[in-house]
Amino acid sequence: MIRVNGNYLKLAGNYLFSEVANRVAKYQEENPGARVIRLGIGDVTEPFGPVITGALRGAVDEMSRRGTFQGYRSDKGYEFLREKIAQHDFLSRGVAMDPEEIFISTGAKEDTANIQELFHRDTRIAVPDPVYPVYVDSNVMAGRTGGFSDGRYGGITYLDCTGENSFRPDLPDGEVDLIYLCFPNNPTGQVATKDDLKKWVDYAKTKGAVILYDAAYEAFIRDDALPHSIFEVPGAREVAIEFRSLSKTAGFTGTRLSYTIIPRELRIPGDDGGSHSLNQLWDRRQSTKFNGVAYIIQRGAEAVFTEEGRREIEATIGYYLENAAIIRRGLEKNGIEYTGGVHSPYIWLRAPGGLSSWEFFHRLLDQCQVVGTPGAGFGRCGEGFFRLTAFGSRENVIEAMERFSRLK
Ligand code: MLT
Repeated sequence: MIRVNGNYLKLAGNYLFSEVANRVAKYQEENPGARVIRLGIGDVTEPFGPVITGALRGAVDEMSRRGTFQGYRSDKGYEFLREKIAQHDFLSRGVAMDPEEIFISTGAKEDTANIQELFHRDTRIAVPDPVYPVYVDSNVMAGRTGGFSDGRYGGITYLDCTGENSFRPDLPDGEVDLIYLCFPNNPTGQVATKDDLKKWVDYAKTKGAVILYDAAYEAFIRDDALPHSIFEVPGAREVAIEFRSLSKTAGFTGTRLSYTIIPRELRIPGDDGGSHSLNQLWDRRQSTKFNGVAYIIQRGAEAVFTEEGRREIEATIGYYLENAAIIRRGLEKNGIEYTGGVHSPYIWLRAPGGLSSWEFFHRLLDQCQVVGTPGAGFGRCGEGFFRLTAFGSRENVIEAMERFSRLK
């Protein structure tokens, strides 16, 4: 008799952002006149500038001509794009990266969810708490965890991030094999220094662990001393995989383009006693399960790595960072404690009045018609916290913060 994958039945509730969307839809249905301002999911609002738009248009034209039309191509991504990424994202910061170590994909969400397939079912995973829920849910679906109780899945090592450790995870007490890190962090907006990352690289080397480093928000870093990539730390090539995305960097949340970096040196043992290249295994996985990102989108992405394209996206990132500053000032004015929002589009605040995350979610929606994301949705340590995103139009962000004064 056919049965569902029981691992899916372990999942606790809906995917966080679907749950938020459902509750907002219900509120909107009950209050049809309310003008709700959404600072919940980190979705970009500002349109492409002329450079990226022009590249996308040019590629559409190419697709309309016999000589330049493109069908299936490498599922790894076009070389023109992988070479530009190696040059602009890595070599420009003193990190040599072979384009063969770069895999173009449709999203860091997809890749951070799928990468766990490369690892043994018995792999012991560690995640910060609070954490982007995809890292956890994808391991639950893969059967790598026990059931959900008291806000946590059995079998996962949770690394508490609280005010006491400045919301940055400490090394685990016990042994773990696979560590998820994200800097600038979603949801807390914290950044890591090179020394912070070195600590993790050293740990991974000593324990034979692998670090999955989500750098989807690196473009928001404004301090040159802070690392944009874990590969800026010596030794990381033997222990880390990095995920990058144009979603928040260049407005591609709907267009979809990301890239995953797996250095050739990264090899881990298998049950057969051999040592296996994760670069080769991911290549094998992708060529079976993925047929590449559309040519048109890859040409649009290529424009991001030109000088003019860079200027275009920098202006938009600056706009979101200014939104973050407006949110920070608004919170200060209302006496609300927060962190983040400096090298990051996310502001992590303590729900005022000792409210729980979801209580504050509903209070903010009812009294101010502003949507944010309840911290508890990111993990047990997120309870009592709340995330606002700086992705929004300037008018909406200003108005949202003015509405905070209505909070009772
Ligand atoms: C978020 O709001 O945390 C992100 O937008 C989710 C994502 O990138 O998938």
